[in-house]
Amino acid sequence: MKHRFTSPRRRALLLGAAALSVAGVSQAQSADPIKVGVILPMTGPSASTGKQIDAAIKLWMSQSGGKVGGRKVEVLIKDDAGVADTTRRLAQELVVNEKVAALAGFGLTPLALASAPIATQSKTPMVVMAAATSSVTEASPFIVRTSFTLPQASVAIAEWAPKNGIKRTVTLVADYGPGNDAERFFADRFVLNGGQVLEKLRTPLRSPDFAPVLQKVRDAKPDALFVFLPSGQGAQFMKQFGERGLDKAGIRLIGTGDVTDDDQLNDMGDVALGVVTSHHYSAHRNTPANKKFVTEFEAMNKFRPNFMAVGGYDGIRLIFRGLEATKGSGGEALLAAMKGQIIDSPRGSILIDGQSRDIVQDISIRKVERRDGQLWNVEFDTIKQVKDPGKLK
Ligand code: PHB
Repeated sequence: MKHRFTSPRRRALLLGAAALSVAGVSQAQSADPIKVGVILPMTGPSASTGKQIDAAIKLWMSQSGGKVGGRKVEVLIKDDAGVADTTRRLAQELVVNEKVAALAGFGLTPLALASAPIATQSKTPMVVMAAATSSVTEASPFIVRTSFTLPQASVAIAEWAPKNGIKRTVTLVADYGPGNDAERFFADRFVLNGGQVLEKLRTPLRSPDFAPVLQKVRDAKPDALFVFLPSGQGAQFMKQFGERGLDKAGIRLIGTGDVTDDDQLNDMGDVALGVVTSHHYSAHRNTPANKKFVTEFEAMNKFRPNFMAVGGYDGIRLIFRGLEATKGSGGEALLAAMKGQIIDSPRGSILIDGQSRDIVQDISIRKVERRDGQLWNVEFDTIKQVKDPGKLK
């Protein structure tokens, strides 16, 4: 007859097996990768933003070994083609199905805004690596930003221009969030400094035609045209600026550095020479940290990093820093751990302001010059640790 009760020896064996399987489960759990969901425009009109950020993340993964505290970090890259409904759907899927510790990417303002409610509802940190309208960080308490803001970049050139012979300007911006910010913050500061804005022109975000607005600029005969166009549109704009002879007509070109984007600058030709812009990153920056970044980035990707790449690189580093502090947890703990971080970036020291969750960084004034046969944004003046002026209003 069989014993109804397990013998002490058998019980010990069973307990041992149970303990083993518990250990096995917890081992499997901690060996599970920590997932980070990155949504980028890898195709469509903003594909260069996706290409740059993707390349920067891959660089960091290879430099860091892709691990936090011995645990693998898996980065899931999803292509939204720059369409907001797709961004929102992908964010939802990454949170619900993949249980990502953080969302990241967001190549344009409308894409970040579309995903913000998902970050809020699921309490998932959302690291904005590209979008740059000031108000983006206010769309969710779970957003932190590692790119820049248009007010941050625009005010610096509005300070520089009137001191350098530019008294009358026309502004030209892409007609959506960051363009509105650039137009307003440039014009307000420029007028405060005694300048005059003759006309405020706008082009649509999608398929802009620069010919009619450039004709208006020619007719208005300003000392300079101030321009903000999103990354990816600079080369086409610059070509038409030259073709329509605005440079020959003595109209100077100034703007935020999006228009002389390092992704396209080298192919723009002589028309870009002398263009003065303000921005937070130039691949030309002559510091050991930047030289190392540019050299390793180019060795891996065969193209020059631009300001989008730096936003992505610092964004993934910020996520790693946060995950180190939380030992791999996402959610509110990760958000808290990312606030107040200081990172030694290729662009210089950056701070994620604990209160606004926005970036504080240096902004430089740069002029396009040819050096060793290549075009670069050569920095010649720097304003230290600029907070987003959009938050001060
Ligand atoms: C934006 O949509 O927020 C954006 C995109 C590209 C830029 C700047 C801002 O270069």
